[in-house]
Amino acid sequence: MTTLFLTDAEATRSLGVKLGKFLPAGSVVLLEGDLGAGKTTLIQGIGEGLGIEDAIVSPTFTLINEYPEGRIPLYHLDLYRLEPSQVEALNLESYWDGVECTLGIVAIEWAERLPYKPPSYLHLCLKYDAKSGRKAELVSVGRFDCGAMGQALSEIL
Ligand SMILES: Nc1ncnc2c1ncn2[C@@H]1O[C@H](COP(=O)(O)OP(=O)(O)OP(=O)(O)O)[C@@H](O)[C@H]1O
Ligand SMILES: [Mg+2]
Repeated sequence: MTTLFLTDAEATRSLGVKLGKFLPAGSVVLLEGDLGAGKTTLIQGIGEGLGIEDAIVSPTFTLINEYPEGRIPLYHLDLYRLEPSQVEALNLESYWDGVECTLGIVAIEWAERLPYKPPSYLHLCLKYDAKSGRKAELVSVGRFDCGAMGQALSEIL
């Protein structure tokens, strides 16, 4: 596990920018963390790193926000208000397998509510830290630490 201290919102955003610049297509980032911990801020950074100019806001009425115009597409989900059955109906594996959609980065807020997980992903947990304000704990799961993904992470961490 890698711990990064995020002293202000800009630090959270710039971690996202690096992920957006380096993560290869097919990456899944599962974000966990309390209300207001910085999940959306980090995903806004991912959008910036991908070169997306549209404003990135948490999906509410739409369940998935898709931003196709960057280096690779960004798919942004927020599971906060969803029931497990609604999450299941989203068929998320088609996003991480690239079935009927272009492979990109899938970034999911409140990922602890996922009834199933992809075979490999970056687990990013945002926490409040007494000393530095906030911190991010990153763990790569599955083949995420091999090949292109591993290289991306070594550029970032
Ligand atoms: N490292 C940080 N230090 C201080 N403030 C931060 C940090 N990162 C983000 N923030 C600020 O915290 C607030 C909440 O951030 P954000 O909306 O990204 O959280 P969230 O985890 O998406 O919240 P929610 O659980 O409601 O989806 C924003 O005002 C943001 O600028
Ligand atoms: Mg949010």
